[in-house]
Amino acid sequence: MSELVKKSQRVDPSMLVLFGATGDLSANYLLPAFYHLDASGFLPDDLKIVCVGRRDFNEQSYLDFIIEKSNFLEKLKKPKIKKYFLKHIVYYQGDFSNPDSFAGLTSVLFNLEKPTHKCYNRLYYFATSPEFFLSIAEMLEGAGLLKSCEVHNRTIRVLVEKPFGFDLKSAKKLNKLLLNYFTEDQIYRIDHYQGKETVQNLMVVRFANSIFEPLWSKDNIDHVEISVLEDETVGGRGKFYDRAGALRDMVQNHLLQMLALVLMDEPKELKTELIRDEKLKILKGLKLFSKKDCKTEVVRGQYGGYMKETGKQSVTETYVALKVFVDLPRWRGMPIYLRTGKALSKKVTEISIHFKEPSKCLFTHCASNIMTLRIQPDESVDLRINNKIPGFGVDLTQKKLQFGYKKEFEKDLPPAYERLLLDFIQGDQRLFIRSDEIEAAWKFVGSITDSWRDLPLSMYKKGSHGPEAAENLIKKDMREWWTGE
Ligand SMILES: NC(=O)c1ccc[n+]([C@@H]2O[C@H](COP(=O)([O-])OP(=O)(O)OC[C@H]3O[C@@H](n4cnc5c(N)ncnc54)[C@H](OP(=O)(O)O)[C@@H]3O)[C@@H](O)[C@H]2O)c1
Repeated sequence: MSELVKKSQRVDPSMLVLFGATGDLSANYLLPAFYHLDASGFLPDDLKIVCVGRRDFNEQSYLDFIIEKSNFLEKLKKPKIKKYFLKHIVYYQGDFSNPDSFAGLTSVLFNLEKPTHKCYNRLYYFATSPEFFLSIAEMLEGAGLLKSCEVHNRTIRVLVEKPFGFDLKSAKKLNKLLLNYFTEDQIYRIDHYQGKETVQNLMVVRFANSIFEPLWSKDNIDHVEISVLEDETVGGRGKFYDRAGALRDMVQNHLLQMLALVLMDEPKELKTELIRDEKLKILKGLKLFSKKDCKTEVVRGQYGGYMKETGKQSVTETYVALKVFVDLPRWRGMPIYLRTGKALSKKVTEISIHFKEPSKCLFTHCASNIMTLRIQPDESVDLRINNKIPGFGVDLTQKKLQFGYKKEFEKDLPPAYERLLLDFIQGDQRLFIRSDEIEAAWKFVGSITDSWRDLPLSMYKKGSHGPEAAENLIKKDMREWWTGE
């Protein structure tokens, strides 16, 4: 049994209360993650998940509802497997704005704890729209559910879902609200990209291999690209998405967090706050956009058919590409190109580090070395190096040194939510985002949104590479988007 399993089974007794238990997130991500963790032996045996919903269910009918709603719970249809998993599930009917619901919840938790005479950690998962956070926190406090047992050193934690704000002002308001009820070390702000195996590998590749760190600066790297390309359209998320757009939905969180991990200095130790401090330096170092920069360094696009799909006139971007800089001595002047969009020709998330060509090359065609970190799918790390083509003369070709997860490991990679849920249960905050990181990212994004309504919206065809203007954004610097081919 691995260290991780042993640790998960050693966790202090815990109750996890899931608010929003009948929602899409719970059905498609959270319940499947709990089930897989349990099936793999990672969920503490005595962990109860108290699922709070408005509808009239018992444990059986709730789980049947979730299995029916979910795209990922086929296995739970088998009665034996379902019965085994049901031991973790408690269903509680309640409303977020009704104090009686929370008084009832207190009794449920108390009754669950009573037979064992143990005190429990209380873990609250706010899997709801942020508009309910205040009400839930207020009600929890009113019901005495934010007090933990100090004698047994039990803790209260809260996990909150994205979106974490709409802009800097709303993010600050949300942080203030949560900090009224919880301390920073109790708040777990999720960014599910942080739970992806390959994102976690970023730090390992950089800091566990002595060959990269000495080269990791503007002196040796020409530019960095981060691409999060999706082939799906907005689908059923149209209403939410139209208010947010690609910049707020993807860049503010996932892309900027990956950027911070790629560029940050090595933390002194692998401790939560030290890692967050280093990421924060990069996020704060991002050069803010002026109105003039916005015109030349940002492209917004929308795929044809988006307005028909969402049923309204809209200038919301479903694609965004931008060139950014980090104003710190190690990175000053080195461009970082970011792009993300929907309804594109392929689904891929990739970070590529483009090293400078050798300043003096003895051979013709010395291409620059490129390191690609493929986050999804076909997770891999590869480094392109120049080699001699066998035969007479000295002709060069670039080939990959590659580490592919599928080739090297038989086991499937754990989905991001499983990893993050387990960290939440175990009280490990390393992969969650601190309030100041969120605010620094919003400040940067605000410098774009402040002036970008004047920017033209470039239309692109569904299933294409995105708008022509995004190609031109990088081409004018004599570079091209990296396609990995
Ligand atoms: N869905 C995703 O894939 C996804 C991915 C990442 C982040 N998120 C974020 O996660 C959060 C939840 O998303 P979702 O898609 O699951 O939303 P959803 O499908 O609309 O679910 C909302 C949940 O809140 C419950 N609820 C609403 N008002 C309530 C009240 N007054 N009392 C008790 N329960 C109430 C709903 O109960 P009823 O069933 O009774 O209406 C439902 O369980 C959002 O912030 C979203 O942005 C979602």
